[in-house]
Amino acid sequence: MVQLESAVALVTGGSSGIGAAMARALAARGTRLVIADVDPERGEAVAKELDGVFIRTDVRDLEQNRAAVALAESTYGRLDVVHLNAGLGTGGMSIGEGFDPALYRRLIDVNLDGVVFGVHAALPALRRAGGGAILATSSLSGLTALAGDPLYAASKAAVVGLVRGLAEPLSADNVTIAALCPGFTDTALVAPMAEAFREAGFPLMTAEEVAAAGLAAIDGGGSGEAWLVQPGRHAEPYRFRGVPGAAKPDGEHHAPPPTVMGWQEGPA
Ligand SMILES: NC(=O)c1ccc[n+]([C@@H]2O[C@H](COP(=O)([O-])OP(=O)(O)OC[C@H]3O[C@@H](n4cnc5c(N)ncnc54)[C@H](O)[C@@H]3O)[C@@H](O)[C@H]2O)c1
Repeated sequence: MVQLESAVALVTGGSSGIGAAMARALAARGTRLVIADVDPERGEAVAKELDGVFIRTDVRDLEQNRAAVALAESTYGRLDVVHLNAGLGTGGMSIGEGFDPALYRRLIDVNLDGVVFGVHAALPALRRAGGGAILATSSLSGLTALAGDPLYAASKAAVVGLVRGLAEPLSADNVTIAALCPGFTDTALVAPMAEAFREAGFPLMTAEEVAAAGLAAIDGGGSGEAWLVQPGRHAEPYRFRGVPGAAKPDGEHHAPPPTVMGWQEGPA
């Protein structure tokens, strides 16, 4: 398990909101920081505040992910924790009238490729450190329906699927991976809707509350988990029901698929 007190962390989307809060929470534990974001102004400020370093990184670009990882190793000699958090919404884009293929492409490039590229770029460094922890910011909408932004929800559900499938292969390198699944949080992403939440009397979480759950996920040391974060609830891994295994015509259980598939079955 990673000891945050002596660790080095890379946080994408660390210039604001949940990423900046996570960077501050990690720094408070003694973790040294690399902040990676497309927003250099706020990113530099967060890095300066935390005595860390900033690198302008567009997570849609694999080489820029690699450069951020390289900066961690060249500055601090190692990398132990990666929070792949950069993300955006569509503002509620419909799949029918008003569908914008370019915005859809950007959404998937940032929210899914950003995590895939981030894991791929970080793995060699995490191996060199003897293992580590990856946290990917998904969303509650990765676990439940979000009719107001279904394409965003699809991108976040993809992150949950990726995290669950990667847990076993990454364990060979002593690397854990978890998804952070917060509900509505008071950040720039939700700012256009903040008034509607207030009027509805629904509490937005603070980015600091979500960051505390992110630390709990890393400290917990579990892998393949999706951490549910909701106002007023203790953050914990979501309990997936499990997929029933194949049955024979007589109702008896089938043998599971070949172990090479790494397929998980739960109770019927
Ligand atoms: N705010 C919420 O209610 C909420 C809920 C669930 C999940 N999330 C997720 O949390 C994460 C952080 O969002 P937030 O709410 O803190 O919003 P935010 O807008 O404050 O932060 C997002 C950060 O990502 C950065 N970013 C955007 N595109 C990027 C790119 N291509 N490369 C690098 N950085 C990029 C932005 O510059 C910004 O600093 C996102 O993945 C978001 O989907 C947010």
